[in-house]
Amino acid sequence: MPALAKSLGNRLGAFVRQITKRDGGYPCPMAAHVTAPQIRARKGGPKISMVTAYDYPSAMIADRAGIDIILVGDSVANVVHGMSTTLEVGMDEMVLHTRAVRRAEPSALLVVDMPWLSFHISPEDAVRNAGRLVREGGAEAVKLEGGIKRLPMVDAILSAEIPVMGHVGLTPQSVHEMGGFKVQGKLIDAAEEMIEDARALAVAGCFAIVIEGVPDVLGEIITKEVDVPTIGIGAGAGTDGQVLVFHDVLGLGNGHYPKFVRSYANLADGAVSALKEFISDVETGAFPAEEESYHVSDEVASELLRGRSSE
Ligand code: KIV
Repeated sequence: MPALAKSLGNRLGAFVRQITKRDGGYPCPMAAHVTAPQIRARKGGPKISMVTAYDYPSAMIADRAGIDIILVGDSVANVVHGMSTTLEVGMDEMVLHTRAVRRAEPSALLVVDMPWLSFHISPEDAVRNAGRLVREGGAEAVKLEGGIKRLPMVDAILSAEIPVMGHVGLTPQSVHEMGGFKVQGKLIDAAEEMIEDARALAVAGCFAIVIEGVPDVLGEIITKEVDVPTIGIGAGAGTDGQVLVFHDVLGLGNGHYPKFVRSYANLADGAVSALKEFISDVETGAFPAEEESYHVSDEVASELLRGRSSE
């Protein structure tokens, strides 16, 4: 084969590998940047992974791992700001956290939660706020909680060409209406209503739907009833994908996690041990070492030190 053709072939091969693989060799069946239509097309295909991220380092880590979707969740209220409900964060905080995540330039699809009251007042208000998340934050899609009663807002946002992810089941923004963070859809009527909500969201054009805090059988039924991917959290194994909160997966919380969480690491304990070592090294003078300090030439050092007491 002529050298030029061989070189072109090699470069084409490298390019294809680059767009079909992620950092760390994680095989990705899609092009380098994940899009909402690609996620929509994954119904019944390879399972979808989603994790929250709220800042630059967590987004870098999630993306290096090869996650499909990064969610700037309004769980930032609990996880990062230590608030007791998600009702306390507003648009300004969500925009700020989204901007930090965006700067990591993730290959993952960047979905952002619409906070409480940002889409409840009117369709116009919902579009304005979804638009802020896209224009000011760099979101590529928004997620909003609720079913049929939110359809006018979902329609309006979709009409503004912004992809929408639905969210049914235990919707934390309804904490007071639900009387606490309780598993939803345990009775027939509530389960049927949730199925109708999910169907309506799919028909309206949501590209995916989160199902949170429901019995596994209901997660499975909703997944079969809608033609868009479902992403479960505490919804059993029958959904098209799974989402967890970053700090829960990595064990960065206080050690008390809900039943549905699997922590794959215990980074909080690791971090405490590392900081204890640092404190000890500071106290004993073991830190910093020679190689962790800046130096000048011997001449400059002796000139500076001349005439000064060594005390
Ligand atoms: O805010 C969040 O973290 C979420 C996930 C639980 C889906 O909405």
